[in-house]
Amino acid sequence: MSKSHYSDLGTPNKITRAAENLRKGGVVAFPTETVYGLGADISQPEAIKKIFEIKGRPYNHPLIVHFAKLAELDFWARNIPQKALILAEHFWPGPLTLILPKSKHVPLNATGGQNTVGLRIPRHPIALQLLTELGSHKAIAAPSANRFGFISPTTADHVKETFGDSIDIILDGGHCEVGLESTIVSCLDNEITVLRPGGISVSQLESVLKQRVTIQPHNRVIRTSGSLASHYATITPLEICHSKSLFARACDLQQRKIRTAIVIWGKHEIDIQQKTSKLLHYIFMPDNPIEFAQNLYTTLRDLDDKNFQQILVEAPPDNPEWLAITDRLTRASHTFHK
Ligand code: TXA
Ligand code: MG
Repeated sequence: MSKSHYSDLGTPNKITRAAENLRKGGVVAFPTETVYGLGADISQPEAIKKIFEIKGRPYNHPLIVHFAKLAELDFWARNIPQKALILAEHFWPGPLTLILPKSKHVPLNATGGQNTVGLRIPRHPIALQLLTELGSHKAIAAPSANRFGFISPTTADHVKETFGDSIDIILDGGHCEVGLESTIVSCLDNEITVLRPGGISVSQLESVLKQRVTIQPHNRVIRTSGSLASHYATITPLEICHSKSLFARACDLQQRKIRTAIVIWGKHEIDIQQKTSKLLHYIFMPDNPIEFAQNLYTTLRDLDDKNFQQILVEAPPDNPEWLAITDRLTRASHTFHK
């Protein structure tokens, strides 16, 4: 494998090299507006295999296929319902993935053997440039650039820290604007169903479609790795705690001498004894969901590096705008791989 190169900004020259690398069957990490992706040209089976290997991801978990031009949607998908088209026209380029019946141009190794495909046109300029340079009727299969089950990267450094030299090129596009993964919407069987809440809120989908949209409960039928109970996980055990019991819980952890990071978003009067405790460390997050999402993964990664024994997170408001955040925190609080 070739040596890794890093840059501060994805310069046009570097994007051209990255596209060239993809064409030769290499693997490239690139920024999107949601999180960084680990990409392969979908016409390169060895490169797709490499992605699963690098991530440690089971081969039957489908990848999202990224492409650049709306006019090519019917090259990648078949039987596209009108509602899917409305969503694509409205939200692409952007943080929305549509699940549609796949065309013959999408190989089964990218879809985990399924006859459906997750498609998305990202809006980060580097992602779009990379796709454009790769050429027309070309696409990049890319999961988030993290180890399977762990937190997605929102900076190039996160990718570098996790994978180092096992990736040929890492394009640096700065901190991701959204900070959470795309919203995944199934458009199969004439139903519109949210499989994973994300960068586009359910109310945004509903106002464009002028109808109520269902959110799939966790007992899923379709294989969506983002729908496993434990996912997006920190290494440090994470617990969600209702605002009302937060300080009592912090006090309990303090008495048990457990070094705890406490992530809060509400405006609280913190007890002086807790404020000055060597065991408790408070992190103040924005109280609006857009900025909270932007900061969430970076904050959790930072805390994971700081040897806390516990992360306590104030439960987000019970409000649809916080749904994607609540979803990720709930999955992060499960503990299967610890
Ligand atoms: O924002 C995002 O979506 C990022 C950026 C890089 O685009 N990508 C991302 O990929 O989060 P990944 O692989 O970490 O999560 C994609 C999810 C997986 O849970 C996968 O199972 C699901 O999309 N998915 C992909 N194709 C699918 C399909 N045909 N049916 C059901 N779920 C699918
Ligand atoms: Mg992922």
